[in-house]
Amino acid sequence: MITDTTSLHLEKIVPEAEDFLPLLGTDYVELYVGNAKQAALYYMSAWGFQPLAYSGLETGSKDKVSYVLIQDKIRLVLTSPLKPGGPINEHINKHGDGVKVIALWVDDAAKSWKETTNRGGQSFMEPTTLNDANGEVVISAIHTYGETLHYFVERGNYSGPFLPGYKEWNPHYRTEPTGLKFVDHMVGNVGWNEMNKWVEFYSKVMGFAQLVSFDDNDISTEYTALMSKVMSNGNGRIKFPINEPAEGRKKSQIEEFIDFYNGSGVQHIAVATDNIFETVTALKKRGVEFLYVPDNYYETVLDRVGEIDEDIKSLKELGVLVDRDDEGYLLQLFTKPVLDRPTMFFEIIQRKGAKSFGKGNFKALFEAIEREQAIRGTL
Ligand code: FE2
Repeated sequence: MITDTTSLHLEKIVPEAEDFLPLLGTDYVELYVGNAKQAALYYMSAWGFQPLAYSGLETGSKDKVSYVLIQDKIRLVLTSPLKPGGPINEHINKHGDGVKVIALWVDDAAKSWKETTNRGGQSFMEPTTLNDANGEVVISAIHTYGETLHYFVERGNYSGPFLPGYKEWNPHYRTEPTGLKFVDHMVGNVGWNEMNKWVEFYSKVMGFAQLVSFDDNDISTEYTALMSKVMSNGNGRIKFPINEPAEGRKKSQIEEFIDFYNGSGVQHIAVATDNIFETVTALKKRGVEFLYVPDNYYETVLDRVGEIDEDIKSLKELGVLVDRDDEGYLLQLFTKPVLDRPTMFFEIIQRKGAKSFGKGNFKALFEAIEREQAIRGTL
């Protein structure tokens, strides 16, 4: 949705993403949460995720419980501790519920670990083979921003529901999916002056290319500002925008996140749909709350984005935002934070050619977030 291409800085830190780390897609996203059982019910009832797999006391896991949910290509893992103390409790105490693992699907988890740690990535787990009656999975992991991890998952020789140690999860309760297809991108918020460090990490350690950057002239309102750079792997299936706060007259949403999350972490998960109207209508009906877009946004949006297939009245009714770049346009909408702390939220996105991220909407979006911050007393 980059409409003003003159202010778009196309920087190439590395000319092309390098192929030492071929990534097939997002394998799963794991959240550490205070009550996985109830969170699982929320993602089923409100978001239309389907039950897939379970690990807990019944499967021999004595310290933690995990529920795995699926919708098309999106797998969510919700994990809670079963005992006091330990890293999961500490994570929840410090950050609240939040994303711990962004797992990446690879052909060779050992090579992925070796290539990234050789380039300065900090190891979390050496390549490890997990077995059960359904075959084997090889996993390895490195650290990224904050306490977030990247797992590399090689599952070519595995036919079980998720990973060894998990059994099929078959509750009687099922809901209709809401049309969510895959993870389009995941955004990390990092602390003051840390953006370039993590841009360099994704470029040097993971071989990603920088697609685009925004500075505080692009993304600022009367009160707040941020800077953002978008990193992408070679095939474009994995895209990680990285945000850092910029000085504004009042506290930015990025600072608010950093304060409540107690450090860097995943700010939003953007999930793709083929029909944003049906998806958002279903999500709203089931209780998902979206940011309010003022009516006057729609008075000028068509002047900015030109002709689109959709009816502007329907867009306005649902509060869907539009933006255009050289290759087409996109429709997008942001939820309010889905946790008690004002930290993580979701974006629903439908791309109609556009490969960008909705820059033309940042101002309207930030003003909407500021209205929420003012109510929370954190602006
Ligand atoms: Fe986004």
